[in-house]
Amino acid sequence: MKNEAIAQRIKELVTELNDHAYRYYVLSQPIVSDSEYDQKFRELQKLEHDFPLLILSDSPTQRVGGTPLDGFTTVQHKMPMLSLDNAMDEAELEAFDEAVRRFLHKEGKVSDEIEYTVEYKFDGVAISLTYVDGLLVQGATRGDGTSGEDVTSNVKTIKSIPLRLRGEGRKGGTIEIRGEVLFQKEDFASLNVLRGKEGLDTFANPRNAASGSLRQLDPQETARRPLSFFAYGIGVLDSEYTPLVDASNETLSLVMHEIAALGFSISPGYKVAKGARQLVDAYREAEVTREALPFEVDGIVIKVNSIPLQQILGFRQRSPRWAVAAKFKPVEATTTLLDIVIQVGRTGALTPVAVLSPVKVGGVVVSRATLHNQDEIERKGLLIGDTVVVRRQGDVIPAVVAAITAARTGEERAFAYPQKCPECNTQVERQDGGVVIRCPNTHCPAKLHERIRHYASRDGMDIEGLGDKMVELLLEHGAVKDLPGIYYLTEEQLKSLPRMGDLSSKNLIEAIEATKTRPLDRFIFGLGVRHVGAKTALTLARYCGSMERFKALKEEELLQIDEIGPETAQAVSSFLSDPHEMAIVNQLLAAGVTPPAVIVREVTDSPFSGKTVVITGTLSSMGRKEAEDKVVERGGKVSSSVSKKTDYLVAGENAGSKLAAAEKNGVAILNEDAFLELIDKSL
Ligand code: IVH
Repeated sequence: MKNEAIAQRIKELVTELNDHAYRYYVLSQPIVSDSEYDQKFRELQKLEHDFPLLILSDSPTQRVGGTPLDGFTTVQHKMPMLSLDNAMDEAELEAFDEAVRRFLHKEGKVSDEIEYTVEYKFDGVAISLTYVDGLLVQGATRGDGTSGEDVTSNVKTIKSIPLRLRGEGRKGGTIEIRGEVLFQKEDFASLNVLRGKEGLDTFANPRNAASGSLRQLDPQETARRPLSFFAYGIGVLDSEYTPLVDASNETLSLVMHEIAALGFSISPGYKVAKGARQLVDAYREAEVTREALPFEVDGIVIKVNSIPLQQILGFRQRSPRWAVAAKFKPVEATTTLLDIVIQVGRTGALTPVAVLSPVKVGGVVVSRATLHNQDEIERKGLLIGDTVVVRRQGDVIPAVVAAITAARTGEERAFAYPQKCPECNTQVERQDGGVVIRCPNTHCPAKLHERIRHYASRDGMDIEGLGDKMVELLLEHGAVKDLPGIYYLTEEQLKSLPRMGDLSSKNLIEAIEATKTRPLDRFIFGLGVRHVGAKTALTLARYCGSMERFKALKEEELLQIDEIGPETAQAVSSFLSDPHEMAIVNQLLAAGVTPPAVIVREVTDSPFSGKTVVITGTLSSMGRKEAEDKVVERGGKVSSSVSKKTDYLVAGENAGSKLAAAEKNGVAILNEDAFLELIDKSL
């Protein structure tokens, strides 16, 4: 090949590879396989190796380059990088709108409703990127807002930052793009796992990790860390720059279109809202949708859309008058891991629980969090006494995210998993490849407690008045010695217990009595067979129809049932062949429990037949379980998570991330009224 032809091929490859990177990292819509990409990348590498003078500065091979620095040089921002004023709740958000209107009114601009843009507030690190003639020439941190650090080599390693701006034939001028560098949740988790393995300090949260990664003196190190970039605005823009989007000097939303057209990611769900009401709606909506995002956000940013109005509003000392950050209530907090204690569950599994110094997370005081199993403690490298980050998300149980290893004093100690059950002192056994540690003693009192609680729980026999405290009271006073024992309790006996009055004793006895004719699925659920949740219990009850048939099930037959996997089949059959378990079942039946047979109707003409339905939020007319039963009775399937396969999402009050997921996946959403209408229609 002639030199010219080689230069031409290099240019082609660079353009093509950059285009693929854009589709992959910015649009998340790759059109080639990884191996096709790699093949082209290697072809380019080879040509560049043989003809180093022909290397283009926007070549993807140039993302990782340069030698480690001694320190960063200081960059003076041509336009200061300002901060934002915060609004901490809806009232403050409304006050912001009010202040904007008042200011404009004073300046002689009368406007009823102001148009605002709404985007997420990224919880990362602010960065300024300068492009000259379309090429990335500088990346700088925000620093104190007036001057920051030159981190050009490091930002070049970030794949969602274009080395050359997109836009056919557009040249000339300087444009500064501003935005936020961050770690996506998944990338952050893998980074911490890797660091743990390498014996390095783990990062407390994605923001710290992003900041630390950007400030690496060795760009090779930054390149190993998969950072992302989202753009939120323009800084310096010289007059030679020719915009791609018409009238992008009129409104901010057009500026954002311009930015997206140049090849950047912008906030998902970016939109325009009019007036205070729509702002508040957008804020509420974002509080829900944030949970489904792959990265962390700590609020939304609201900006006046009209650029002429922005100019009138101008700036205060450090922040624009035309923008505000509406913060979400924090869901993460730092506290001390005081201890790790062991809880023995109904199936005998020993679960470690973190005892925390009480801390407010998202408005709720958290003092305990599950740690799931030993593996998790090891993976997170937690030591007792550590300063830890605790997170609560949606209605999920609080979790210990990570230890702040840098805060260690040397006083911390490792947690030793007990060899004996803390409740009955029986030697524990490891199961499921060692992940689950179990107490094998069928008479372990901790198991009995959990077992009765589970039997009496809402999805089980639903015994009002037989909660955690009551079970404890009964066991403590020896009023029951096994699960069937609850059916032999008397009012007299209950009345003699501390804090038990005549009425509560009578009510509890009646509540227990009422369970004798509960449907079969509730009874099966209540037995507490491993892997058998409410849904599986219903499947089994519908399949068997009667307790006799249930008791006679064999593993091979279980495996034939739709929706019963091998693990569940194994668990059910081992339960049914365990003499101790069967003795309990028989004693329950002997005590008078007679679950009525389930009559399975063939439903084919219902709007739910063959459909997968997810139910979320609170329904005012019925409980969750009842709603699920209604769907199943009508031939539908109930699932707990939303995917493209979901047919309907029933969204009650305070529906959370599932609603967002349904919207994203184009799933039909039914509010309570619509749901009831379909239910009524089909029976
Ligand atoms: S606009 C003059 N938009 O929040 C307005 N900032 O306190 C400049 N941030 O450090 C900022 N997400 O890096 C804007 N969608 C967003 C943002 C955002 C995060 C950060 C920004 C700055 C801080 C402002």
